[in-house]
Amino acid sequence: MHAVDIIIKKRDRGELTLEEIEFFVRGFTNGDIPDYQTSAFAMAILLNGMTARETTDLTLAMAHSGSMLDLSDVVDLAVDKHSSGGVGDKTSLSVLPIVAACGLPVGKMSGRGLGFSGGTLDKLESIPGYRVNLSTEEFKQQLKEKGIVLTGQSLDLAPADGKLYALRDVTGTVQSIPLIASSIMCKKLAAGAQAILLDVKTGLGAFMETLDEARELADLMTDIGKLAGREVVALLSDMNQPLGSAVGNSLEVIEAIDMLKGRGPEDFAEHCLYVSAHMLVLGKRANDLSEGRAMAEKSISDGSALKKLRLLVEAQGGDVAYIDDPSRFEVSEFVEVVGSPQSGYLSEVQARTVGEAAVTLGAGRLKKSDPVDHAVGFIIHHKVGDRIKQGEPLFTIHANDENKLAEVRKVVLEAHRFSDVPVEKLPLFYN
Ligand code: URA
Repeated sequence: MHAVDIIIKKRDRGELTLEEIEFFVRGFTNGDIPDYQTSAFAMAILLNGMTARETTDLTLAMAHSGSMLDLSDVVDLAVDKHSSGGVGDKTSLSVLPIVAACGLPVGKMSGRGLGFSGGTLDKLESIPGYRVNLSTEEFKQQLKEKGIVLTGQSLDLAPADGKLYALRDVTGTVQSIPLIASSIMCKKLAAGAQAILLDVKTGLGAFMETLDEARELADLMTDIGKLAGREVVALLSDMNQPLGSAVGNSLEVIEAIDMLKGRGPEDFAEHCLYVSAHMLVLGKRANDLSEGRAMAEKSISDGSALKKLRLLVEAQGGDVAYIDDPSRFEVSEFVEVVGSPQSGYLSEVQARTVGEAAVTLGAGRLKKSDPVDHAVGFIIHHKVGDRIKQGEPLFTIHANDENKLAEVRKVVLEAHRFSDVPVEKLPLFYN
């Protein structure tokens, strides 16, 4: 078998066999197949798609590219969550401490930024010292002892996804249902989750722009999970405007800490409480969603969720002083508040444009080897539906480069659209 023949077959809309998929995954994982062929393979899949059978085979091959974690000796029921990616989506940073504080142990493998969407690992690394490369043993030990783990996949879990993910980020091959489904599900299967909550985003700031596409992705991932004997619940959530206010690595960590203190933007808090309630039901800690939500709320009001975050950061070598006092996070050289150019009702805050502008500032990568600037990003002060007066703060830019600041000021201003007549708020979730 030759890699080039498999690429050509997919390029010509052929259906790949299990053997071909396994050969390719094995090859790029162990380095026999170079990055340029793997990128061409990803592009062929993006352009021509995969059948459900091919996607399932790809998922399982990537899941088995490293070790498969068995958590049955560590927790009674391993529950995990994953978002399909969005702008300002710092949900895991708040939800994991919440559910862990409610007595549900959670160990999660997260990813880095992907295209215009931020990544939990990049956000966590804005906390000095925080380690995102735990070994499998460390993962299990920490889950057992602390009940919470948030790490990357540099440990020997789904290494195929680690490689493919980094290439997709910089080769325009993110927005593909089979690639997203296999990327998410291989990590969940490899990490030993028995019950999985999927937060599938839809809208202008999501990889799935339409509700139909998001449903297709949700159904495909649910089917793959079920086929592998896991329980899966998929939520569909709005990503037309950024989630919460902060977009950018340390800014988002600060907002997640705020949420755990009972402060922070209402939409983000609501989102986290709903996701937490679902996880607590999936994990059999709550009988129904209202009980789960009440538990989640209590973990915030009694401070136990914030304590869990502190415990997590401490366990993974991070400096907890930053959790105790978020004003310690490095501040960018330029901080500029941009006022609204007009009065009116906010009709759009185009999330993708904001996400791309954050990448321009350095919050994400344009090349695989690019470093990430943790301090830069935006605070978006308003939500669709808000009535705004001319001159009122619309967004704040945190930048380390004056030229980039000027560039993003213009595009983010254009990303805000106004209407003279009242505009309905956007829903947080869809049925
Ligand atoms: N999250 C992932 O882990 N992979 C994707 O492809 C998209 C979101």
